[in-house]
Amino acid sequence: MEQSSQWWRDAVIYQVYPRSFADRDGDGMGDLPGITGRLSALRDLGVDAVWLSPFYPSPQHDAGYDVADYRSVDPRFGTLADADAMIAEAHALDLKVLVDLVPNHTSSAHAWFAAALAAAPGSRERDRYIFRDGRGPGGDEPPNSWRSVFGGPAWERVPDGQWYLHLFDVTQPDLNWADPEVRAEFESVLRFWLDRGVDGFRVDVAHGLIKDRDLVDWHYPSAILGGLGQEGPPPPMWDQEEVHEIYQQWRSVLDTYPGGRILVAEAWVKPAERLARYVRPDEMHQAFNFEYLDTPWSAEPLRKVIEQSLAANDAVGATTTWVLSNHDVVRHATRLGYPVGEARRHGIGVDDPQPDTALGLRRARAATLQMLALPGSAYLYQGEELGLPEHTTMPDEYRQDPAWFRSGHTERGRDGCRVPIPWEADSPSYGFGPSDASWLPQPASWAEYALDRQRGVAGSTYELYRTALRLRRERGLGSAALSWMDAPADVLAFRIGEVTVLTNFSDAAVELPVGGEVLVSSEPLDADGRVPTDVTVWVG
Ligand code: NOJ
Repeated sequence: MEQSSQWWRDAVIYQVYPRSFADRDGDGMGDLPGITGRLSALRDLGVDAVWLSPFYPSPQHDAGYDVADYRSVDPRFGTLADADAMIAEAHALDLKVLVDLVPNHTSSAHAWFAAALAAAPGSRERDRYIFRDGRGPGGDEPPNSWRSVFGGPAWERVPDGQWYLHLFDVTQPDLNWADPEVRAEFESVLRFWLDRGVDGFRVDVAHGLIKDRDLVDWHYPSAILGGLGQEGPPPPMWDQEEVHEIYQQWRSVLDTYPGGRILVAEAWVKPAERLARYVRPDEMHQAFNFEYLDTPWSAEPLRKVIEQSLAANDAVGATTTWVLSNHDVVRHATRLGYPVGEARRHGIGVDDPQPDTALGLRRARAATLQMLALPGSAYLYQGEELGLPEHTTMPDEYRQDPAWFRSGHTERGRDGCRVPIPWEADSPSYGFGPSDASWLPQPASWAEYALDRQRGVAGSTYELYRTALRLRRERGLGSAALSWMDAPADVLAFRIGEVTVLTNFSDAAVELPVGGEVLVSSEPLDADGRVPTDVTVWVG
């Protein structure tokens, strides 16, 4: 394959969360015209591509991951013509565009599900989903013991007594991927968007499409978003062998299009060798490395996960896809503001322990500078380039995440990382839109994070990202080879191409690596020119 069609191997891809990026019409919910109008800011930042979370027609019970029609645009976000205009503008700016594909489940408002409910048990319409009779007297018990990822049982009973499977919200019935019509439909959906010019797809719950044939019981948590740790035997709903043939088939579809169209797997799978199976040469191109995201702020565990990920992906000829934040996890500027090694939080509320914001930002900057020096590709989540923290004091009455409701209000959920982002400190909704409206409240402290307060300001997080992205490109870091260097305890140092990267996790300042000049540093060096605690430096 020629080089240009391999653009994704070292690309930096920026996740746009359409609800919260830019609101053109002022209704408080972001939209496609808003995104189109702000794409040049992403060009200025220096990323290669954008991935947009779903903007399809949807009742929005899971913020659009409950898709009612895969070939259209929700009126809240605009029209199909707006999507075309957004893709055209991105391409004019030399940005690739990835859209989200949600194949594990539809919305219960999808025409297929309405047809399934209207049809009888055993019908063709029901066979597109996973309907079963219940257990126990009268079939009153769910068909098996599975739990929904968002809490509560994974089965819902319909009036004629059958049950359907929903690994997520009750409004997100799981599709039956053994059904040829389901397969044909998604191939057609792929072509629909490829024909409109998109450069690829982020595949939602990529490890979940195939379930164990016998739907055997499972008594452990369905921990897709709750961390990767799975106790006990391999879970019967995730990472089943037959899932791979679906992606091989999709790959053959994508390969008939020019320009390097890609698939990126959202697959919460470990160890790294299992995840790498999704990016074998005839399958997907990228798979988010969530194990890296989940690793505590500590030299040895990070070294181990970096080493293992690179080795596992190398073995199948793929590059590694690094990520620190997205719309499902506590933002890393906040996550890293808690004591090292604490269990991952599922949302934070006003009565929860609050993070050390300054420490979190300091570590987040160091973490990002480390990530952007690693070989492979990297994903950024909107707002992280501003150093944006999680909204950790959002009043509960605003919460919309189904996890908050289905967990019986025990998991605060993901709303705190989804708040509309600040562009202009002194404008209504901080420039998110033309009015004060914002579908989730923006904290009063966010003016200081606004882009216009950071652009051109030396030392700001925005300028740090811009510098790192420029240097990464100029020095070819994404496609260089990494070799580890000797370093004191709790210090991680590696060489990547001609650049030396050092992160100091220890309590004391350490000497700069010898030779070369400091290219960029996540915080100033100390008065003696040493690298302080929680700082990453690039020397070259
Ligand atoms: C993963 C998505 O990123 C998340 O936001 C969503 O709730 C689940 N998949 C279900 O679609």
